Amino acid sequence: MKKQLSTINYQLSTMRTIFVTGGAGFIGSAFIRLILEETSDFKIINFDALTYAGNLENLNGLDETRHKFIKGDICDKEAVLQSLPENSEAIFNFAAESHVDRSIASASEFVLTNVLGTQILLDAARAKNIRRFVQISTDETQGSLPEDSNSYFTENSPIQPNSPYAASKAAAEHFVRAAHETFDVDTITTRCGNNYGQRQFPEKLIPLMIANAMNDEPVPVYGDGRNVRDWIFVEDHARAIWLAYLKGKAGSSYNIGARNERQNIEVVKSILDALGKPHSLIKFVTDRLGHDRRYAIDARKVETELGWKPITTWEDGLQKTIRWYRENQDWVNQIRSGAYRDYYKNHYGMEVGAK
Ligand code: NAD
Ligand code: DAU
Repeated sequence: MKKQLSTINYQLSTMRTIFVTGGAGFIGSAFIRLILEETSDFKIINFDALTYAGNLENLNGLDETRHKFIKGDICDKEAVLQSLPENSEAIFNFAAESHVDRSIASASEFVLTNVLGTQILLDAARAKNIRRFVQISTDETQGSLPEDSNSYFTENSPIQPNSPYAASKAAAEHFVRAAHETFDVDTITTRCGNNYGQRQFPEKLIPLMIANAMNDEPVPVYGDGRNVRDWIFVEDHARAIWLAYLKGKAGSSYNIGARNERQNIEVVKSILDALGKPHSLIKFVTDRLGHDRRYAIDARKVETELGWKPITTWEDGLQKTIRWYRENQDWVNQIRSGAYRDYYKNHYGMEVGAK
């Protein structure tokens, strides 16, 4: 992939600033690592509110001469305007409330951050003459696909979100579109499928299964376990976003996926096998309300227009991910104490974490 990035011509002489929101989270921090490692002329302002999902440890070891962290909320217009340098190259908006189950329990925070926060950033982009606005969206805005079919989400599929999380991300997409159509803001919207990799908060399927299994705790599978997700290694997603920024057409959207559909139960069994844990840890639990059955992405546009391809196979990616969680049990244990335990008990009706 280094090749894909280095073949693109850009001016090397001066440092250019990009403003990344939500960079202390899972995908934002992977994106920042990639840009710092694989380019030399961009510096990053990382603006993040450090909610329960944000973690400064995700930023350990970064080059501080090119990465500046600012704690701030994208719903705070003054803080955004103060932190965003005039004429920056781009805003990459990763900041979000990102977990579907939490949005089912309470949607207001999702409306605030995902909708209002995005609009505040769009206004700031205009006020500060920012060259490009990249909205990190999700395949979930396009709803659910039938099982056992050859249907896929394309850039032209209707926006028909089913969960409060997806509805808030869909609303944000509409505001991004409106900023482009009304004010000619140079926007790009990316829609990716399910990410996995290092530093993902263990409320999401893969890190949750790894963390529980490592501790010999039951791994909760919703419904019949046959819902399908289209999995992509986080670094591949980060590269696609960067290419969309560099090469994408203003006002366009790009669906990003690695052609890697799996049923949840298959994913869970692979994790247990890799950890040498018995399948008897699987506990089928009450299904998620409104649970989308299948996501699957047609990636032809990113592959042909941007020249992007995933470089990490599912097998390698899963192995790398499991290794990271095994080697970073302090990171996991720190999260699994305190508020996380209350969330878990409330949501699953079971105890986990530090005893
Ligand atoms: P995450 O929950 O791990 O991280 C979100 C980050 O945003 C955290 O660091 C948090 O502190 C920060 N944040 C939350 N509210 C904020 C606010 N009001 N102001 C500033 N910062 C705030 O999420 P993630 O999984 O890394 O997802 C990042 C983005 O990618 C989201 O926009 C999400 O919708 C999108 N996305 C995620 C996936 C996935 O599989 N995880 C797939 C496609 C798209
Ligand atoms: O598709 C992209 C989306 O992927 C992102 O936009 C979201 O931010 C991200 O959270 C993710 O949403 P999902 O709802 O698909 O991911 P989650 O990891 O929560 O669940 C994946 C599948 O696993 C889903 O079918 C529900 C199921 N699941 C999840 C959890 C947490 C279980 O069976 N048990 C669980 O405990």
